[in-house]
Amino acid sequence: MNAVAHTQRWWKEAVVYQIYPRSFMDGNGDGTGDLPGIIEQLDYLKDLGVDVLWLCPIFPSPNDDNGYDIADYQGILSDFGTMADFDNLLEQAHDRGLRVLLDLVVNHSSDEHAWFQEARQPGSDKRDWYIWRDGKPNGEPPNNWASIFSGPAWEYDDLSGQYYLHLFSRKQPDLNWENAEMREAVYRMVRWWLDKGVDGFRIDAITHIRKEPGFPDLPNPKNLSAVPSHEMHRNKDGILNYISELCAETFAHYDVMTVGEANGVTIEQAPDWVGEDQGRFNMLFQFEQLKLWGTEGNDGLDLAKLKSTLTRWQKGLEGQGWNALFVENHDIPRITSTWGNTEHYWRESATAIALMYFMMQGTPFIYQGQELGMTNHPFTSLDQFDDVAARNLIKEWRADGRSDADMLADLQSSSRDNARTPMQWTRHTNAGFTIGRPWLAVNPNHQWLNAADQADDPASVLNFYKAMIRLRRAEPTLVYGQYDLVLDDDPQVYAYTRSLEGEQFLVLCNLSDDAWQGELGAATPAENGFCLGNYADAAAQPAIELRPWEARLYRL
Ligand code: NOJ
Repeated sequence: MNAVAHTQRWWKEAVVYQIYPRSFMDGNGDGTGDLPGIIEQLDYLKDLGVDVLWLCPIFPSPNDDNGYDIADYQGILSDFGTMADFDNLLEQAHDRGLRVLLDLVVNHSSDEHAWFQEARQPGSDKRDWYIWRDGKPNGEPPNNWASIFSGPAWEYDDLSGQYYLHLFSRKQPDLNWENAEMREAVYRMVRWWLDKGVDGFRIDAITHIRKEPGFPDLPNPKNLSAVPSHEMHRNKDGILNYISELCAETFAHYDVMTVGEANGVTIEQAPDWVGEDQGRFNMLFQFEQLKLWGTEGNDGLDLAKLKSTLTRWQKGLEGQGWNALFVENHDIPRITSTWGNTEHYWRESATAIALMYFMMQGTPFIYQGQELGMTNHPFTSLDQFDDVAARNLIKEWRADGRSDADMLADLQSSSRDNARTPMQWTRHTNAGFTIGRPWLAVNPNHQWLNAADQADDPASVLNFYKAMIRLRRAEPTLVYGQYDLVLDDDPQVYAYTRSLEGEQFLVLCNLSDDAWQGELGAATPAENGFCLGNYADAAAQPAIELRPWEARLYRL
């Protein structure tokens, strides 16, 4: 038990709850979630036991990408309320000991941001804050890069007669990080929020801020519109200079939490991003794990890959940096629908997947509704999809001749809208989310899957999450302890130990529909070691036998 020491920090001991404000709670009955709605539910969050709330973007935005297209970095979207509502939310959260993180979206702004409107004017001194290029002599865009949301990554601007780069939607022009004045304006804005008292940021799409110098064509374009040109703008050499400067000019002067969205960062590179002596971010959302979800629909769970990927990140950062632990967010379908079995083992699979990731070394993130085991939405037609990424795909697939039925089947299991349907508070109309008309359809299963009913049920997914949070809070070993995989090659069970200063825990999760029997060797729990399980009578059962989707935590 040679646990490698990690320095103690509040953000390592915290559990973070991610709020998608549009879908969390509607306080004024207009069908859209808002800040007063979040304030109404602070006691629910406190009771759940989380420490930090991360709010997806709450700023003025034309909502082409639901707020990830920001038109004013220092305001509040009127649908969500006012700055006074935000100040009230911050104060009321702090009064309850809850911290608040905002989403920092500075790879791009909205095309409706004043900076971009100014930059469009020929001769503007903000022209260089964005990325402008002339088209090719043959009338094509400046290069053949493709947007992450389909189609070309360039949009022609009539006013100035040049193209601008947008790695995401055409309403999300990329900021030019080579421009020092633009960077300084971003830092001033970040400091303004930090001075207001926010407790940190989740930093969006940050690995895209540096582009390949010279903006060359991709050498071998395949189906360009279908394959974003990541190799030209994802985690490019030199990006860490920008990250160092961003952190030195802002976060380094405050006791805050930072977590960067890190598409393209490998575990070998991760210590440069989150190494405790580097002065950059605290944590990353790594994307290697996201590849396990599959890009085209529901590929089910590949347990061997899951174990090797998560173990590589656990061991790779051991003693050096800190992991962000997550299985859901607003960009991926619901995990119980993707990896679990919603038909026969809904509650068991939701809780087994939960225990599997929650007790690893790192800071656990819970996405709203995950703590209830919310599932994908039963979409029945293509016009139900709201997400810009889905709408662009539908256009493109249609042009390629794909049938509606085929597109629907794909999006049913892959669309981001699955995670964005309103939070299910009660079994009543609109799941208690709004008295108005919800902006996105409520999942009909709220009649049996909702927070109010689960609060009263000791065996519920919600109460399992509460128990996990309580245990993690009570046991430093579950926060700081060393992670070691057990039963490495077992095709059904994900098992690992956590060890610190003579204390040891064992996490055992059967992630399959079949019962399991096996040997635990040195990791066999002592009698009375049982701490938590997702079957009612688990304490009395032998640890070497697990029922379908059974998960247990033992003290060794
Ligand atoms: C990642 C965000 O999580 C996603 O929702 C958004 O569409 C893109 N970045 C662009 O900002």
